[in-house]
Amino acid sequence: MLTKGIILAGGTGTRLYPITSIISKQLLPIYDKPMIYYPIATLMLSGISNILIISTPQDIPQFKKLLGDGSKWGINFDYVIQKEPKGIAEAFIYGADFIGENQVCLILGDNLFYGKLDFLRNAISANRGATIFAYKVNNPQDYGVVTLAEDGSILSIEEKPLNPSSQFAIPGVYIFDSSVVEKARHLKPSARGELEITDIQKLYLDEKKLDVVIMGRGIAWLDTGTPESLIEAGTFIHAIEKRQGRKIACLEEIAFERGLISFEQLYQNYNSLPRCEYKNYLLRLINEIEKK
Ligand code: G1P
Repeated sequence: MLTKGIILAGGTGTRLYPITSIISKQLLPIYDKPMIYYPIATLMLSGISNILIISTPQDIPQFKKLLGDGSKWGINFDYVIQKEPKGIAEAFIYGADFIGENQVCLILGDNLFYGKLDFLRNAISANRGATIFAYKVNNPQDYGVVTLAEDGSILSIEEKPLNPSSQFAIPGVYIFDSSVVEKARHLKPSARGELEITDIQKLYLDEKKLDVVIMGRGIAWLDTGTPESLIEAGTFIHAIEKRQGRKIACLEEIAFERGLISFEQLYQNYNSLPRCEYKNYLLRLINEIEKK
């Protein structure tokens, strides 16, 4: 059994209008690269190499132009068009053939994770049904919220509760076994008319097959859905990259370190770029590798 990845990069991005009236939110820059590079990097760092990208009819051609079939990074992209956004859980209906008998890690295209991501890799290998994460935030009412008992068991899951009973938001990265497809197919839309990802989680909870892993404060989980959070995420990435002199979510670097691409492929990627900062960074990597 494999673990496949799905990136949901649809939606209308209305909170970022007017720019998102003509371009997908997930193609906007987070400092020095398109937003979608970050969830791709998260999946790649978790050991995933088969990724389905779901987006709107207008935006899919742009994603294909940017990312291609993934071979330049030694991975494989599939694409599916979501005609109308009807909720996150719809990703599994669109992704049914892609998922097959495998388990799947779904990541929302506007969720950005930074830090030691071993917890995700470990959760993927330990998953026995579904795994969600819990992350303490100041504004849990804006997210799915999980409430835990003293012993760590799950007491409740609620979607954007007005009065949250815990500070634990559920970040937009989830692991599900293949039964998620049938569960999604039988789901009823919520009051806001969406197939809710939290309703899927509740089905696993009823089956006693839902695990929650606390994502510690050493991990940065950033949201990028509003003008303010977008610039905050960009500033965060800029500050760390400037300080360390290393790029976050450089797909060539991750691919090479994971052994997914050869030195020749890395060089070819470098060569295919026009003069830009990203190209300079690849040259630095190439020089470092040659010195070793
Ligand atoms: C969605 C989910 C919510 C989750 C959040 C993470 O919210 O419905 O459960 O906590 O993503 O970003 P939405 O994108 O609808 O605001």
